[in-house]
Amino acid sequence: MSDPAQPELTAAERQQLREAATVAAAHSYSPYSHFRVGAALLLETGETVTGCNVENCSYRLTSCAEQAAIARAVSQLGPAIRLRAVAVANLESKPSAPCGACRQTLTEFGDDATLVLYPGEHGPVETTLGELLPHAFRPNSLH
Ligand code: THU
Repeated sequence: MSDPAQPELTAAERQQLREAATVAAAHSYSPYSHFRVGAALLLETGETVTGCNVENCSYRLTSCAEQAAIARAVSQLGPAIRLRAVAVANLESKPSAPCGACRQTLTEFGDDATLVLYPGEHGPVETTLGELLPHAFRPNSLH
């Protein structure tokens, strides 16, 4: 889908976003899984906000990198944030697609066209939120 107000990201912009996610992953608190994940959100305003996974000894309380980035973006910039693109990276040279919960979290602030970049089984993947979470439950489902 092409929106003249939000032209496609250049290869250099996509690479910058991946690098921001990788830098964020270095801050990961992951003493249990040792799987260091970072996420970088490119907002429609042009700002980039990052987050990393933060684990807990009560394992289910772990925050994923994408969730941490969303919480940080809303905390810093307010509830009107909108996602243009998201990059996920890890420092383990493993594939790491956003988990199901993160797809739902991102959907709250993105749309089907939001670009999502992550390391796949066979190299970098570039896809959209609509591809990753089709038929999503959305805020407007409540109205
Ligand atoms: N993790 C993320 O940060 N994002 C995802 O989308 C998938 C999983 C984290 C959670 C946990 O700290 C570690 O990766 C292993 O599951």
